Amino acid sequence: MITELPPVVPSSSESPYIDGAAHPMRAVTTEAAFQETSWTTQRAKHVADFFGEMAPVWNQRISPEELDGILDALERGGVPKGGRCLEIGAGTGHATRHLRHWCESVIAIDISEEMLRRLDPAFAPRVLADGSRLPFPDAIADVIALANMFLFPAEVIRLLAPNGRIIWYNGIGEHTPIHLSTEEIIQALDQHSPKIATLASSKTPTWQAIASRWSQATWCVLRRT
Ligand SMILES: C[S@@+](CC[C@H](N)C(=O)[O-])C[C@H]1O[C@@H](n2cnc3c(N)ncnc32)[C@H](O)[C@@H]1O
Repeated sequence: MITELPPVVPSSSESPYIDGAAHPMRAVTTEAAFQETSWTTQRAKHVADFFGEMAPVWNQRISPEELDGILDALERGGVPKGGRCLEIGAGTGHATRHLRHWCESVIAIDISEEMLRRLDPAFAPRVLADGSRLPFPDAIADVIALANMFLFPAEVIRLLAPNGRIIWYNGIGEHTPIHLSTEEIIQALDQHSPKIATLASSKTPTWQAIASRWSQATWCVLRRT
C-alpha cells in the first residue's frame, strides 16, 4: 500500500540537468533491484571507479540543498527519532548531515574511497564497503537510507530491524539516473521477502510506503506491514 502525500515544497519548473532515464546507471539500478546476479565483482569495480572519478567535482555537480528534502521524508514519512541508521551510498555526505540529527547513530557506507574521503568524519563514522554485502549483523538497522543509491533488496531486508524504515530519495525525482518508483521498490523487496508459513497458507509479507515530492526530489519511506 502506498500513501501519497501532497508536497509541502512545490516542484520548480526548472528543467532537470540530466536525462536520468537514458543514463547508463539507470539500467544498472533496475538490474541490481531485480536481478541479483547482475551485480558482479567487475560491475562493482566499474561503479566504484565511476564515482571515484566524479568525487572531486561531486559537490559542485550536486548541490547539498538537493538533499534537504530528506528532512521532509524523515518528518512526514514517520521515521521514529533515534535509532541506528545505515546510510548506504553516502557519497560526500549530503544526506548524512541531516540523518545524524534525527538518528541516534549513523554509519556512512560507500564503495568509493574517493567519495567517502570527502564526507566529513564529524558527520558519521565511515565504512568502505559494498552495499550488496555488508559486514553487519542481521536486523541491525532501524533506518536504512538510500539517497540516489542502488537498492540491493536481499541485503536491505537482512539488515533491517523488524520495525525498521527504508528511506529512498531521488534528488531530481524521475530524472535521477539511479531511480526506482515506489511501486518498483515494493516489487523488488517482495521478491526477496521470506515466505511466512501460516496454518492455512503461505504468505509473503508486503510493504507499506509513504511517498511525496519535495521541490524536484521524490522520496518514499517504507516499512513492513
Ligand atoms: C549518485 S551517488 C549519491 C551520493 C549521495 N548519496 C548523494 O546523494 O549525494 C551514489 C553513491 O553510491 C555509491 N555506491 C554505488 N554503488 C555502491 C555499492 N554497491 N555500495 C556502496 N556504495 C555504493 C557511489 O560510490 C556513490 O558515492
